[in-house]
Amino acid sequence: MPHLAIDGLNASYKNLKVLHDICLDVERSEVVSLIGPSGSGKSTLLRTLVGVNKPTSGKVTLAQRTLDYSSASSLKQARDSMAIVFQQYNLFQNMTVIGNVTIAPLKIKKWQRAEVEEHAHSLLQKVGLGHKLKAYPDELSGGQQQRVAIARALALKPQLLLLDEITSALDPELVGEVLDIIRGLARDGMTMLIVSHEMGFVREVSSRVVMMDQGRIVEIGTPQQIFDAPKETRTRDFTARVLSH
Ligand SMILES: Nc1ncnc2c1ncn2[C@@H]1O[C@H](COP(=O)(O)OP(=O)(O)O)[C@@H](O)[C@H]1O
Ligand SMILES: [Mg+2]
Repeated sequence: MPHLAIDGLNASYKNLKVLHDICLDVERSEVVSLIGPSGSGKSTLLRTLVGVNKPTSGKVTLAQRTLDYSSASSLKQARDSMAIVFQQYNLFQNMTVIGNVTIAPLKIKKWQRAEVEEHAHSLLQKVGLGHKLKAYPDELSGGQQQRVAIARALALKPQLLLLDEITSALDPELVGEVLDIIRGLARDGMTMLIVSHEMGFVREVSSRVVMMDQGRIVEIGTPQQIFDAPKETRTRDFTARVLSH
């Protein structure tokens, strides 16, 4: 049984059907990247997995548990087992770095304070911010804030980490420090689904790459297959376009 199994997932916004019959298996510790043109449904797939929008049909199994999304309890299961990081890091501006990382484990999960704080310290060390525990978000660079957002997501001990274009809003010189953190997480065996426009990074870090277009999976392959020897014309056109600039 794969760690994450997505079977026949469909999703809509009102009358607009956006995801069509998505099927994807992800093994534990795999890093799978979603690529494809703007509007192809990459963000919607991540948002649907975490239950931000409800699938119209399909089955998702994570760590042997099936999430049906129709009830509040299974939605809670989805939120308990996955964490998502967005382009906009949305930290609480009135809270310190350590406060941002500990608030959900303390207030939502109601985990023990001593353990939560110890875990938060080690996560902030890991993202290179062990010296910024008491800083406020507006005292940090965008790259540092995004690293806090990653630590905040990891503080919930997710079974799956979803990253949606998390370097797209950063100044170019800050992108590398965030990609380094993701590389480290991949080495540590974190299972991840990544949407990124950094094609060199996608190629390097992914075990498999999923090409999406118009709400469907067009092709799935290793980075070498997708970038060097794509089977589908749409994949070839897309990768040629993004790699040429
Ligand atoms: N909140 C929303 N309400 C209505 N339509 C949306 C919403 N978000 C995205 N869409 C539409 O869903 C489709 C897929 O969008 P999205 O998942 O954001 O694509 P991607 O992340 O690949 O750029 C697009 O046609 C987009 O216009
Ligand atoms: Mg998107």
